[in-house]
Amino acid sequence: MATEATPDRLASDLARELEVMLEIEKFPPPEGFRESALWSDPAIYEEAAADPVAWWTAKSKEVLDWDVEPTEGLNDSNPPFYKWFEDGRINASAQCLDRHVAVGNGERVAYHWRGEEGERRDVTYAELLDSTQRFANALKDLGVEKGDVVGIYLPMIPEVAVAMLACARIGAIHNVVFGGFSAESVRERMEFAEAKALVTVDGARRKGKTAPIKEQVDEEMGDLASLKTIVVVRATGTPCPMTEGRDVFYDEVCAAADPECPAEPMEAEHPLFILYTSGSTASPKGILHTTGGYLTGATTTHKYVFDLKPESDVWWCAADVGWITGHSYIVYGPLANGATSVMWEGAPDYPHQGIWWEIAQETKATILYAAPTAIRTFIKWGADIPARYDLSSLRLLGSVGEPINPKAWLWYHKVIGGERCPIVDTWWQTETGSIMITPLPGITATKPGSATTPFPGVSAEVVDEKDGTPVAEGQGLLMLERPWPSMLRTLYKEDERFVETYFSKFGKDRYLVGDAARRDSDGYFWVIGRIDDVVNVSGHRLSTAEVESAIVAHEKVAEAAVIGQSDPDTGQAICAFVTLNGGVEPSEEVMAGIRDGVAARIGKFARPKRVIWADDLPKTRSGKIMRRLLRDIAEGRALGDVTTLRDPGVMAELEKQVAAERENDD
Ligand code: WT7
Repeated sequence: MATEATPDRLASDLARELEVMLEIEKFPPPEGFRESALWSDPAIYEEAAADPVAWWTAKSKEVLDWDVEPTEGLNDSNPPFYKWFEDGRINASAQCLDRHVAVGNGERVAYHWRGEEGERRDVTYAELLDSTQRFANALKDLGVEKGDVVGIYLPMIPEVAVAMLACARIGAIHNVVFGGFSAESVRERMEFAEAKALVTVDGARRKGKTAPIKEQVDEEMGDLASLKTIVVVRATGTPCPMTEGRDVFYDEVCAAADPECPAEPMEAEHPLFILYTSGSTASPKGILHTTGGYLTGATTTHKYVFDLKPESDVWWCAADVGWITGHSYIVYGPLANGATSVMWEGAPDYPHQGIWWEIAQETKATILYAAPTAIRTFIKWGADIPARYDLSSLRLLGSVGEPINPKAWLWYHKVIGGERCPIVDTWWQTETGSIMITPLPGITATKPGSATTPFPGVSAEVVDEKDGTPVAEGQGLLMLERPWPSMLRTLYKEDERFVETYFSKFGKDRYLVGDAARRDSDGYFWVIGRIDDVVNVSGHRLSTAEVESAIVAHEKVAEAAVIGQSDPDTGQAICAFVTLNGGVEPSEEVMAGIRDGVAARIGKFARPKRVIWADDLPKTRSGKIMRRLLRDIAEGRALGDVTTLRDPGVMAELEKQVAAERENDD
């Protein structure tokens, strides 16, 4: 299906790309798509805006079957501690499982799971319900009670969904840590949250190798007082140490457990989960989501942003369950909607670079939701790879995690979507719980690179950073202007930090996103990037302070300053400037040791792409590192104001080092 690259074709492609870059070209929904879309009438926006609370309440009752329906929508008596659907009662696991089985859909596949070595498991809703009930009872038998925190550190296997749903079933609060984080990061997150139990694996596979996860976990978790139990899923058969009285095998406790565990209706505001994410400081923020509002947001957006028809669609969100994207669009949204999903264990290039397209062809996936960084990688590998597969089942594509550059958008549209699939570029955050700014595929004319407009019932604005008034043209701060059901309720055990981080700038009813954005003449939003010290590497959020503290833990490092540098593959890349202790010679070995140290402390995805050594870092007279100048240097920009530097001479030296490093790179 590859199109021939004639000069004419190239010229027209170029012209088109240029137009898109100039934001002229719009892509209206294809007629055929619009005709059968769940939503095709733009009046939905006005309907929602007329009374957003009433609208969300109606949506909630439409997409969920409440055990006790809420009589009120929003409680805003104590901003910014908003509550939604407060007197309602609902159980998240019953919404995701029992209600589908009850209406005869138990044999529907919930997950087409595909393993790295070619294994297949097609898990039905009935099977998932069965496993969830058993594991919920097993957790109870192990002493886990409503309100307890349970850590989950698992690879992409169906048991990760079972573990989350089992917690939800009994009212335990799950705290999932992405499998790419190091065991040390897991420990930190278990310690902050005082987790009572941790669910993990013997070993995890990645590209033909097996990592001894349980062994690594043991090295870190030894003396954690709150942690009473570690449940080990035997995923790979890797031999692992088991501590008597603390560690149990998942299969054994499930086999011993009662098969029936009726779901207990929870208060709407009962905590469903904590998910740690990076902020401006080195200590991660425990984003807290509650039951009724979160489920309303995840389920409603999954249904309408992706035009989901559960009887016929095969949904594939190619994220990891360990991030919010996986929580909302692999577990809660799709299961609550009764969808059939693809769950892929592995990397995009193992066993070969066409594995995604092979899986899409084989499962007849109809909707694919992926990150721009993955798309850019596929572009590098070549359009001839997806061209070998039949991707005609696809009817809608999604993008998430970072701004998508027009070139990647067009490639996705053409090569993967066969020019027939709308693309929804969805902007949201761990904090927002569900998609906030997005096209509606049967309504919105899209522009490559813009997430377009807020979802119905959501209100966003770009404001002046000084006084908070709306900016008509040009860049400003992105704000969400009114509460929405799936918003975070607080930072776990850090109420003050919650208020300070998100609600201190322009009032307690205006949520500060942390992104810069602008609006165009059509009112479309263009998200530019973070305004705080958060770096977005391949759609993974990291704080510069977190990486700095991992670097200075290296015995030979005196100081470190980390910045996000723009990168053609990963969006941003970690670039670290370091000074070494007196007497230490900067060698390849030391630099590699610094990189490895970060990988070991945080996780491999945080490994700095560049480590640049210098005798000194640019500082103000009061000794504050001027990261702005480091960013200028790294991007090869003209230096901003250097007059406040204590020693302007350091800049020349740094520029020399950066140039040398660049040469090395090429
Ligand atoms: C940050 C949130 C929410 C899913 C994954 C990331 C950036 C996210 C987009 C988009 C431009 C985006 C923002 C945001 N971001 N989606 N479509 N266009 N930027 O969740 O780790 O909480 O990161 O990701 O900067 O603030 P997260």
